[in-house]
Amino acid sequence: MATMNFGGVQETVVTRDEFPLSRAAEVLKNETIAVIGYGVQGPGQALNLRDNGFSVIIGQRKNSKSWDKAVADGWVPDRTLFEIEEACQKGSIIQFLLSDAGQIELWPTVRRHLTPGKALYFSHGFGITYKEKTGIVPPADVDVILVAPKGSGTSLRRLFVAGRGLNSSFAVFQDATGRARERVIALGIGVGSGYLFETDFRKEVFSDLTGERGTLMGAIQGIFAAQYQVLREQGHTPSEAFNETVEELTQSLMPLVAENGMDWMYANCSTTAQRAPFLRPMFAQKLPVFQKLYAEVANGNEAQRSIDANSKPDYRACLERELAELRESEMWQAGATVRKLRPENKE
Ligand SMILES: NC(=O)c1ccc[n+]([C@@H]2O[C@H](COP(=O)([O-])OP(=O)(O)OC[C@H]3O[C@@H](n4cnc5c(N)ncnc54)[C@H](OP(=O)(O)O)[C@@H]3O)[C@@H](O)[C@H]2O)c1
Repeated sequence: MATMNFGGVQETVVTRDEFPLSRAAEVLKNETIAVIGYGVQGPGQALNLRDNGFSVIIGQRKNSKSWDKAVADGWVPDRTLFEIEEACQKGSIIQFLLSDAGQIELWPTVRRHLTPGKALYFSHGFGITYKEKTGIVPPADVDVILVAPKGSGTSLRRLFVAGRGLNSSFAVFQDATGRARERVIALGIGVGSGYLFETDFRKEVFSDLTGERGTLMGAIQGIFAAQYQVLREQGHTPSEAFNETVEELTQSLMPLVAENGMDWMYANCSTTAQRAPFLRPMFAQKLPVFQKLYAEVANGNEAQRSIDANSKPDYRACLERELAELRESEMWQAGATVRKLRPENKE
């Protein structure tokens, strides 16, 4: 553990310097890690763990695209790829990486195989925190732990392959064996995390739902669509509106923010652009929106909305319709053309 200064606040974090892969291998040397679910997080975490030398098996329902994807990724039926129940039985660590709605449905199956000393691992605090809604209450004699990579499983894998790493939070909800902490940190390192910061299950789910409904997914599309519409209503072409709203942000500005921070990005803009955040501060307008959002997450309303939507039998079909509407909107169709015109995509 290393104590570091984050903007004046001391935090204790874990990096690969204090907890190298060799130590993770030692901690997990007798474990079979059963990754349950081969959706988005499942492949990212399982492949990184496998490439890092851990003993990993997959639990996935048959006759599905995810099963076929697992086979294509080199998991071998009846050796390293099993039906969910069989994998739960074989694993000493059960990584519960089904969708949150899938976790509710499969909980009785997983529960049956949580024998004393095993570890139940989540990548989201949802199931445990909203236990009144999910029914997920683990027995007292297993470790209950969490590693939540801060990003898509696809990015987790891509960054790992590129020799980089997504940061992850980690938490111990229940330490039955006295080894929960070393197990969870070893797994966090094993899945290819950049650095690990500690949280608890409640804080993880509250920050995650606020983040994805806020800046990461909800607010960003709302801001894009509103600005695009205003520019279009005022007679700007799709090309101008899209470039001014999305392309400039993703291609030019966010990479600069990622590299050296917002102040550095501003310092590398025109003097007129530099005035924008100071002449027209958006913070005061946005603060109440985010405060209300957090309250809705903390009181469970947002979780209930998700469970209700995700549990519908036609969820996938509805999602496809919603995504198609977004994809076919003028703004994202304009985006498809703009992407084609990027020099690296031509020829
Ligand atoms: N997406 C991310 O990048 C991300 C990031 C951080 C944390 N997390 C967390 O990681 C966990 C997994 O998320 P995910 O995004 O990987 O989920 P996902 O892509 O929706 O994964 C779905 C997986 O669950 C299976 N599944 C769903 N319902 C099922 C059911 N009723 N019975 C059996 N299998 C079922 C799917 O199998 P089929 O293909 O057969 O339907 C698939 O293997 C969640 O707790 C999530 O919050 C995700």
